[in-house]
This record gives sequence, structure tokens and C-alpha cells, in this order.
Amino acid sequence: MKFNKDFLWGTALAANQVEGAYLSGGKGLSVADVIAVKNNDGERLISYIIDGELKRERALFYKGTEMQSEFICEEGVYYPSHEGIDFYHRYKEDITLLAEMGVNCLRISISWSRIFPNGDDDEPNEEGLVFYDNLFSELLKNNIEPLVTLSHYEMPLTLVNKYDGWINRKVINFFEKFALTVMERYKSKVKYWLTFNEINAIRSIPFNAAGLKEVNPQTIAVATHNQFIASASVVRKSKLINQDFQVGMMIAYAASYAATCSPEDQLEQQKMSNILDFYCEVQSNGRYPKQKLYEYKKMGIDLVITQEEEKILREGCVDFISLSYYHSSVISATPREMVTGNVSIGEQNPYLKVSDWGWTIDPVGLRISLNRLYSKFQKPLFVVENGLGAYDSFHEDAEIEDDYRISYINDHLLEINKAIEEDGIEVLGYTSWGGIDLVSVSTGEMEKRYGFIYVDKDNNGNGTLNRFKKKSFYWYKEIIKSNGEKLNSQ
Ligand code: BG6
Repeated sequence: MKFNKDFLWGTALAANQVEGAYLSGGKGLSVADVIAVKNNDGERLISYIIDGELKRERALFYKGTEMQSEFICEEGVYYPSHEGIDFYHRYKEDITLLAEMGVNCLRISISWSRIFPNGDDDEPNEEGLVFYDNLFSELLKNNIEPLVTLSHYEMPLTLVNKYDGWINRKVINFFEKFALTVMERYKSKVKYWLTFNEINAIRSIPFNAAGLKEVNPQTIAVATHNQFIASASVVRKSKLINQDFQVGMMIAYAASYAATCSPEDQLEQQKMSNILDFYCEVQSNGRYPKQKLYEYKKMGIDLVITQEEEKILREGCVDFISLSYYHSSVISATPREMVTGNVSIGEQNPYLKVSDWGWTIDPVGLRISLNRLYSKFQKPLFVVENGLGAYDSFHEDAEIEDDYRISYINDHLLEINKAIEEDGIEVLGYTSWGGIDLVSVSTGEMEKRYGFIYVDKDNNGNGTLNRFKKKSFYWYKEIIKSNGEKLNSQ
């Protein structure tokens, strides 16, 4: 079992899911701050005012509201991001634990509204900048390389209420200003950057991912295009700040299988793969696939791509492709029994088990995904999210025996290893999702836990917030220490 000696072993967090302190230190509200915990119907709701009337809409598979809507926090509603796991105040303690576990990389996002509270401010908020200065210094002091996501479902809410989110071209400039401000500030501390978390998530969570009000194929296409331009422009300009920066794209990837060998099912599956390829083609190769432009035209989507934008895309190709991978999916022309998943749904796979939340567990699918991405795009890959959301049973005086999590991560790492050793794929590193328990995006729950480190907090916000090491903490420590040699291949 060999991993490169420079392999980055780590875990991943996102500001809005851990920091809390949602209005401290000059931070403004972000889209994450107005998404309530799931209700009895399993829905996370967002509240908005329109024509003086209060209305609500679900955030997951959000269908949109109206252009005049103004999103707000409602009195008496529990918003899990407001406290998160209080990482804002406890990051030193958390980094000490991560260092003890031996990680040499931490993926973390910068909360945009901590730096530009409204998104359109003239000057950045110094207090916010200082927070990340201290955070990155603390990481480096502990020999942990930061991998920073610039936009992880946490755009300033003002950019939604006042500018209608990523549908508005002005947001490109606001994002660019934010990105270049932090890249300049942290140029000597951070080398690895990701522009947008799960660039394809806009299809299923367009509120979280792009602050959209109206949701239809036209607005999705334009907002996606604006993010592409923003990303490419930042990649291009970032190299003037520090030519050693490595800037990647990030996609939510799920290997997909046709339900049967019927040509109709195969065709559907191929369409699904083409959708994922589209994002990589634009961000990695710097151009729209011709078929996508044809599809847009046929659908009556009006997307103007100027010559200047074509140039930005060409010159702003990413250095590497990163992905989140949680499950695979089964695609058929006539879908029957469906299962849920990370920003996607598909059919049940009779060969595979599912997690407590119904996500299909498929380590080999990760190897398939890495093969597909590498053979098509020939860029180094980075697995920046992967993990098992599961219930843990907690007693203060006994260790949490999370063998299910150990086995999930073990098996996915084995497949990464095969992709490297047997298939010749370049993989820069692995940052498991949520190494410290955090707030779930799809449900807002705390009890959907991914961590090696338990956080004492429940779905209603009760608990001491104290941290406890799980069995997987010691296991991951051994794996990292042995550079993967201790993985169990039986
Ligand atoms: C990814 C996101 O979609 O999946 C993370 O980038 C998220 O932010 C993760 O937390 C797991 O999803 P969930 O719904 O279990 O939190």
C-alpha cells in the first residue's frame, strides 16, 4: 500500500457549518444563516417577505420564490449556523486535536460575509481578516497545510436581497474583489485554493449555491455562467499574486450506472455523465462543450458569451480538479424506487447498502469516478470530501465505537490507493468530510455525524459543545502515521 510521501491527509470543514458567531466580529448575514433546521416533514425552510407578507420555501431542491422576495431570520426559529460548533471561539482547541490526529491538511472555507459583511462594501472588515490570519497561522504552527474554499454555500445575504444573487453580473465583481482580497492577504500562508464548492450543486440547491430567487433553466444557466467567469477570472489573476498558488475547481461527483443494459437506460446514464463533464470541461479546459451550447439553444436559453469571456475561460483553467464523493447512483429511463443522496437522487442499487440517511455506499464507485475524471481531463485530482453521515451513540465515560465510519473510510481509501497504484492516477490528497462533527447541509442536524471528533450538541442546539475523540480518531491517526500502510485490505 503506497501513497506518495507528499500525499495530503486531512479533513474538511466549511465556515457556515462550524464557525457560529454569526454576527460577531463585524460579520454580516449569509444565505446559510437564514436556513432553519429541518422541520417535522424533514424540510429545511427559508422565510421571506413579499408584498409585506411572510412566506416560506424549502431549501433543498428549492423551487424558487419571486424576484421581490427579501429573505429574513424569523423570531423563535432555530438556525443551526448561528452557533455552528462554535469553531470561531474554539478553533485553537480543535486544531490541537487535529494535529494530535496527525493531519497535514485542513480544508476550510472563508466566510465571505465575515470579510465583506454585505458583499458590496468598499472596504473589507479588518476583524474578519484578522480571524483568518490567526486561524491560518495556528494551522501552520501545527504543520497543517490549509486548503481554502472561497465560496461554500455562504454568500452574503445582501447580495441576494439587493442584487438577486448570481443571476446578477455585478456579483462577479463582488466575488472577485473578495477572492483577490483574501488571496493577497494570505498569499504567504495558503497555497491551495478552491473557487466554488460543488459547482454543480446549483441544480439542486440554487439558494445555497447561488442565492437565486427565480429558479428555471434560464436563471440556472446564467448564474452558472457567471460563476464560471468569476472562477476563471480569479484563477487568472491569482497567479499575479503568487505564481505558486494551486487553484482548483470542485464538483459533487457520483459515479453513475445504467439500471440495465437496455440502450434506453444506457443513454440516460450517458446524459448524466455528460452533465458532470460539462462543468469540468468549462473549468478545466476553458471552453463550453458544443453539445451544451446546442442544448441551451434548443431549450430557448439565452446565454451570451462574449469574446472577452471566452478569453477569461481559456486563460483561467484550474490547476487541479477536486471532488466530493459520497455515493454512486443508478440511472434508468423509467425510474422506479428512488434513494436520496448528496445533491442528487437516483434509483436503489440492489448490490449496495445505504447509510442511515439512505445514501448508497460504494467505494469502488470512487475509483470509477477518479478514472473517468482523470482519463477525460488529465489533471491532478483531490478528494476533498468523503465520509459517512451516521448516528453515534454517546456516553460521556465511554468511547464512541464508530466501526461503521472506520470501515467506510478504510474502503474508500483503499480504492483511492488502487486508482493511484494500479490505474496511474495522480491524487494530491484526501480530506474526509467533517472530521469534527458539524451542521448538516441537507437537514441542519447535528446528529448526522461525520467526525472523528464528537461534538456534544444535539439537533435542537442543546449540549456542552465539548469535544470527544471517537474510536475512528485513533484509527485515522494510525493510517496517517503509516502513510496508508495500515489500511485493512481484507
Ligand atoms: C456536500 C457539501 O454537499 O456534502 C457539504 O459540500 C455537506 O457542505 C456535505 O455538508 C454532506 O452533506 P450533508 O447534507 O450530510 O451535510
